[in-house]
Amino acid sequence: MSAALHGSHASEAVANAAERRWAIIVVSIIALLVLMMVVTGLHWAAMPPSRVETVDVKTVHLRGEFVESNLGTALEPDGRVMVRLIAQQYAFVPNCLVVPEGVPVTFRGTATDAIHGFVVGRTNANAMLVPGFVATFTTTFPKAGEQLMPCHEYCGTGHEAMWARVQILPREEFMAKAKRFASSGERLSCVPG
Ligand code: CUA
Repeated sequence: MSAALHGSHASEAVANAAERRWAIIVVSIIALLVLMMVVTGLHWAAMPPSRVETVDVKTVHLRGEFVESNLGTALEPDGRVMVRLIAQQYAFVPNCLVVPEGVPVTFRGTATDAIHGFVVGRTNANAMLVPGFVATFTTTFPKAGEQLMPCHEYCGTGHEAMWARVQILPREEFMAKAKRFASSGERLSCVPG
């Protein structure tokens, strides 16, 4: 009797120790994951989803800021750089963006058919484009050069072929180009001119 009692106490102690070990391991894993989220979020200056702003999918091509002639990069009268784009199966419009180096750039984008998304190379320009909603964020590109901008939300069979290019121009070069385009009322494109 006393041997059996002693045995059950011993196994209870073993079980408790095992439970404690697991609790410590699980809490450590959760703490590590939270730490990874915080560190990568701060390192990439992650931008949480913006306020909800809607747009009518049925008329997005026809009127308002996302008509085709208004897509691309614009130097606003107040000096801000604004990029407007649309994602649809399986391309971005425009499919090549021009932005300046070292100047804040505001992106405004939406999708017309399925959920798409984009990320610009190894920068923190990263957004999800949902039909009916406008995604917007502002970022600064620290280094001139060309970056790829792939779609990063699975949107159908052509998803992996859906990408655009981003030309990050030195500030002076961008401003000179922006002035030339502004004089003709056009949005900036990658076409030389
Ligand atoms: Cu568009 Cu994936």
